[in-house]
Amino acid sequence: MPEKVRHDGWGCELSEPLRIALAGLGTVGAGVIALLDANAELIARRAGRAITVSAVSARDRHKDRGVDLSRFAWEDDTRTLAERGDVDVVVELIGGSDGPALALARGSFAAGKGLVTANKAMLAHHGLELARAAEAAGTALRFEAAVAGGVPVIKGLREGAAANRITQAYGVLNGTCNFILSRMEGEGREFADVLDEAQRLGFAEADPSFDIDGVDAGHKLAILASIAFGTEPAFDDVALEGIRHVLAADIAEAAVLGYRVRLIGMAEESGSGLFQRVHPCLVPVSHPLAHVTGATNAVVAEGDFAGRLLFQGPGAGAGPTASAVVADLIDIARGNVGPPLSMPSDLLTRAVRAAPGDRRGRAYLRFTVADRVGVLAEIAAAMRDAGVSIESLIQRGAQPDGSVLVAIVTHEGPERSVAQALERLRGSQSLVGRPMLMHILD
Ligand SMILES: NC(=O)c1ccc[n+]([C@@H]2O[C@H](COP(=O)([O-])OP(=O)(O)OC[C@H]3O[C@@H](n4cnc5c(N)ncnc54)[C@H](OP(=O)(O)O)[C@@H]3O)[C@@H](O)[C@H]2O)c1
Repeated sequence: MPEKVRHDGWGCELSEPLRIALAGLGTVGAGVIALLDANAELIARRAGRAITVSAVSARDRHKDRGVDLSRFAWEDDTRTLAERGDVDVVVELIGGSDGPALALARGSFAAGKGLVTANKAMLAHHGLELARAAEAAGTALRFEAAVAGGVPVIKGLREGAAANRITQAYGVLNGTCNFILSRMEGEGREFADVLDEAQRLGFAEADPSFDIDGVDAGHKLAILASIAFGTEPAFDDVALEGIRHVLAADIAEAAVLGYRVRLIGMAEESGSGLFQRVHPCLVPVSHPLAHVTGATNAVVAEGDFAGRLLFQGPGAGAGPTASAVVADLIDIARGNVGPPLSMPSDLLTRAVRAAPGDRRGRAYLRFTVADRVGVLAEIAAAMRDAGVSIESLIQRGAQPDGSVLVAIVTHEGPERSVAQALERLRGSQSLVGRPMLMHILD
C-alpha cells in the first residue's frame, strides 16, 4: 500500500516547513520572530512541521529590532513578499485600514498565499472583501491577534462555541482606556491629567483619539460581532462613544453605588436587529469585567447551550500578540483552512441595525447644574414627562465653580425614554455643560 500523504491548502506535504514572510517588524513583528526562535522545536512538534521565515520587510532596513534579521531575505517593497516562490503564508503586521497593509493582503490572496494579520482596522473595514478573496483563492485568512491581543477569543467563539446561538458578546477591548479609567478611579484624578501621564509613559499614542474615542474598540467589536452572530463585519454599524467626558466625580459616584466605569464594546441581538456599540458603562463590582484593569482585555459571550463564557488575558504587547499570531500559523501548518469568519462568507447575513433606543436597561445620568431653586424639579419633570422612572438621585454640594452635581440612576426602561428626557433638557439654562449618560451593565 502506498503511504498516504496529507497536503495543506497549497499542495505542500504537511511534513514540509511552512514558509512565511513577515511584513512589519515593530512590536508585534519582532515579537513573532523572537517567539518562533524561542519555541521553534515545540512549535514544529505541535504543528507537525517547522515554521520558517523566508523574508521580511519594514520601512527601515537598518533599525535594531533586538532580533537577528540577517538570516532572512529583505524586501524593500512589502508587496513583493507575496510574489516570492519561497513563501506560503504572508504575515501582515504593519497596521492601518488601507495603504500598504491592504495592498499586501489583496496581493497575498491574488498570489494564492495565506494571510495572518493582527490588523483590526483593516478587518473591520475590509473583512468581508478579504474573507471572500481568501475563500476564492482557497487559502487561509487568520486574525486571532486582531481582537483582544493574546486572548484566544476568535478561536474560542468560531470553533469552541460554534454550536451555540450567541445572544450577547461584550467586553473590555481597549487597554489604554482601561489604564486611564483605572488611574482615575484609584487616584481620583481627572481624565486630561491621566491621559497626559499615559502619553508620557507610552500607554497612549501621541494622537490618542483612536483609543479614547472608542474607534479601536469599535474595530474589534465589528470583528467580534461578525464571528459571534454570523454577520458581515460592519464597522459603520458600530455606534461609538469614548471616555473623554467621564469625570472623576462620575467614577466616585459609581463607586458609591457599587459600580466601576469601563469602556464596553457590546453586540447584542434584539427584536429589531443587532446592537453594536462602544460606550462607557457602569459595571457592578460583582461582574468579572469590573475587575479587568490595565492592559488586560476580557470578552463575555452568552451561548444558548454553553452559557456564559469568559475570555480574559493580556490584550496587547509583543509576547501576547505574537502568541496569537503564531497560533494562527500553527493552525495553518496543520492544514486547518476553514472559512475566515464564522461560516463561508456567502452565508453571512447583513445585520439589520437595531433601532437606537429599542434596548431596555438602567442608566446613570449626571448633570452639572446651577445652584438655584427649581433645578431638581426641572430635571425630575423632564424624566417624568419622558416616562423615565428614577431609582435614586444624589445631589452633591457646590463644586469649586459654584455648580452642583446631580447623579441619577433610573429603573429599567427603554433607552429611548432616557434619550427623550435629555432632549427635553437640551438648552436648559439650569444645566452647566453637557449631561453624562452611561448605561448600566446588569
Ligand atoms: N502592539 C500591540 O500590542 C498590538 C496588539 C494587537 C494588535 N496589534 C496590531 O498589530 C499590527 C502591528 O502593530 P505594532 O504595534 O507592531 O506596530 P509598530 O510597532 O508601529 O510596527 C509597525 C511596523 O510596520 C512597519 N511599517 C510601517 N509602515 C510601513 C510601510 N509603509 N511599509 C513597510 N513597513 C511599514 C514599520 O517599519 P519600521 O519599523 O521600519 O518603521 C514597523 O516595523 C497593527 O495592525 C496593530 O493594530 C498590535
